[in-house]
Amino acid sequence: MDQNSKKRKVAESVLDLIENGEILGIGSGSTVNILIEYLPKVKNKIQDIVSSSVKSTELLKANGFDVNELRAVGRLSKYIDGADEVNKYLHMIKGGGGALTREKILAHNSEKFICIVDESKKVDTLGKFPLPVEVIPLAQSAIALELIKIGGRPVLREGFTTDNGNIILDVHNLEISQPLAFESKINNIPGVITNGIFAMDHAHLLLSAGDKQVEITEPIV
Ligand code: 5RP
Repeated sequence: MDQNSKKRKVAESVLDLIENGEILGIGSGSTVNILIEYLPKVKNKIQDIVSSSVKSTELLKANGFDVNELRAVGRLSKYIDGADEVNKYLHMIKGGGGALTREKILAHNSEKFICIVDESKKVDTLGKFPLPVEVIPLAQSAIALELIKIGGRPVLREGFTTDNGNIILDVHNLEISQPLAFESKINNIPGVITNGIFAMDHAHLLLSAGDKQVEITEPIV
């Protein structure tokens, strides 16, 4: 089964976990785009819906949803999103689509974060996927120097502006053996909005699609 079919399979299977009265957060990316296509099937169970990006909001609207804002709905009952890498603790790298800051806000403000991936995203150690860091533009070179000091090779995501009006540095060459500490360390550099390590706000449940089935796992504690 190819990667796209696995994405379709996992996106469809997460529908079974949607319960009546959900205040649902929806993430961003190609897996979530597929989920949004399927979501009208469970529309009657969804009380409110918010999204992590302009793109997802547009797609939700095109599929018949009235999209609300986090500040109007308060806490989310569930947040569903993809990932670029995920380990057995359900720590992730996210932000390949550049929506990491709003994604982290929604993840932090949800009762349950469900991550949906095809199995290629599962890793032992985070860092092969370049770590996205959202940065205030005027601090670009100062932050890049700090990231080089900690062993990374930051590369500006050319021609890309986030939904918040900022830029992204994609940091190559990292081997993130301590995701919690590394997440804080990078977030403490002045001018960093947030980075794509989701360790503090890790997923509570992982659905990963392989060739035969969708595996459901909880984080190792
Ligand atoms: C967007 C993200 C996505 O969840 C991540 O990039 C995975 O995307 P895809 O489902 O296309 O593989 O974090 O900012």
